[in-house]
Amino acid sequence: MHYAPAADRYNNMTYNRCGKSGLQLPAVSLGLWHNFGSVDNFENGRSIIHNAFDKGITHFDLANNYGPLPGSAEENFGRILKQDFTGHLRDELIISSKAGYTMWPGPYGDWGSRKYLISSLDQSLRRMQLEYVDIFYSHRPDPATPIEETMGALHSIVQQGKALYVGLSNYNAEQTKAAVEVLKSLGTPCLIHQPKYSMFERWIEGGLLDVLEANGVGCIPFSPLAQGLLTDRYLNGIPAGSRASKPSGFLQEGDVTPERIEKVKKLNVLAQQRGQSLAQMALAWILKDKRITTVLIGASSVAQLDNNLDTLKNTAFSKEELDAIEAILK
Ligand SMILES: NC(=O)c1ccc[n+]([C@@H]2O[C@H](COP(=O)([O-])OP(=O)(O)OC[C@H]3O[C@@H](n4cnc5c(N)ncnc54)[C@H](OP(=O)(O)O)[C@@H]3O)[C@@H](O)[C@H]2O)c1
Repeated sequence: MHYAPAADRYNNMTYNRCGKSGLQLPAVSLGLWHNFGSVDNFENGRSIIHNAFDKGITHFDLANNYGPLPGSAEENFGRILKQDFTGHLRDELIISSKAGYTMWPGPYGDWGSRKYLISSLDQSLRRMQLEYVDIFYSHRPDPATPIEETMGALHSIVQQGKALYVGLSNYNAEQTKAAVEVLKSLGTPCLIHQPKYSMFERWIEGGLLDVLEANGVGCIPFSPLAQGLLTDRYLNGIPAGSRASKPSGFLQEGDVTPERIEKVKKLNVLAQQRGQSLAQMALAWILKDKRITTVLIGASSVAQLDNNLDTLKNTAFSKEELDAIEAILK
C-alpha cells in the first residue's frame, strides 16, 4: 500500500497553543500505548496512523515501554515513518517518547536517574530511526533521585539536540512545581504535563491544573476515555477483542464493574441527547477547560478514531448538561 497524505489534512483540525510556548498541538492527539505493539496487527496500526495524519493529528505519543513487547510500538512506528512519512513530512510531526517505568533489568533501566533517561532516549531514537524526538518526558517522579538530577538530564537531552522540548508525566502538583522551577533555572522550560484525566479520574482538578496555568505549562490528559469505559464499548458486557478482554491490556475485566456501567449508561443517554457518542461527550468534557491543550486518545480502529475526531464538532456544554454529568458521576 502506497501512502500519500491527504491534501486537505489541515482543514478540519483545531490547534491549541501548548501553555505559553510557541508550539501548537492538535486538539486530539494519538497515543501508541496499546494496539501498535508486536502482538498487534501492523497494517491496522499503520492505517490508524495514516488516517490520523490525514485528519490533522500531527502529534503521536510513545514511550520506551509501549508494546507489548516493550519497545515494539516505537519499532513499528519507526517502520511506518520510514516507509510512509518521507521527504519533509517529519517536520509536520510532533513525536514524543518517555522513560521512567521499568525497561531493562538492573538498576539503570528504571525510574529517573540521568543514566537511565539518557540511555533510554538513545534506545528510543534507534528504535524509531529518528535523530530527535520533539518532546521527551520523565514518565514518573522518582522519590529516590534528586529532582535536580532528573531535570538536569532532561535539560542535557535538549542541549544535545535529542529532544526539542521536555515534559513531565504523573507528577503531582507539588512535584510539578519543584520540577518546573528547576527546569526554569536551567533555561529549559517545561513544555507540557501528561496526567491521567477523565470523568472517572479527576485528581488534576485539585491543584495540578492551577500549577500548570500559573507556570504556562500545557496539559495533555491520557486515558481520557478511561481506556474505553467512557464509550459504548462495554454497555452490554465485555466484547471479544476489547481491551478488557485481552490478557496483555491494562484494563482488566474486574475494572468493568456494575456500578461503573450504571453510570456509563446514564452518561450515554445524556450524550445521545446532545447528538453525540459517549466517547465524543467524554472528550468534549475534557476539552471544555481551556487549560487543556489536547486530549491524548487511544484507538484500535480507524472507525473509533473518526468517531473521536467528530468530538470537535461540538465541545460546548450548557450549565444544565454539566450539572447533569456531575449528578451522575457523584
Ligand atoms: N503517561 C502515562 O503514564 C500514560 C499512561 C497511559 C496512557 N498514556 C498515553 O495515553 C494514550 C491513550 O491512553 P488510552 O489508550 O488508555 O486512552 P483512551 O482513549 O482512554 O482509551 C482508548 C481505548 O478506548 C477504546 N475506544 C477509543 N475510542 C472509542 C470509541 N470511539 N468507541 C468505542 N471505544 C473506543 C479503544 O479500546 P478497544 O481496544 O477496546 O477497542 C481504545 O483502545 C496512550 O496511547 C499513551 O500514549 C500515557
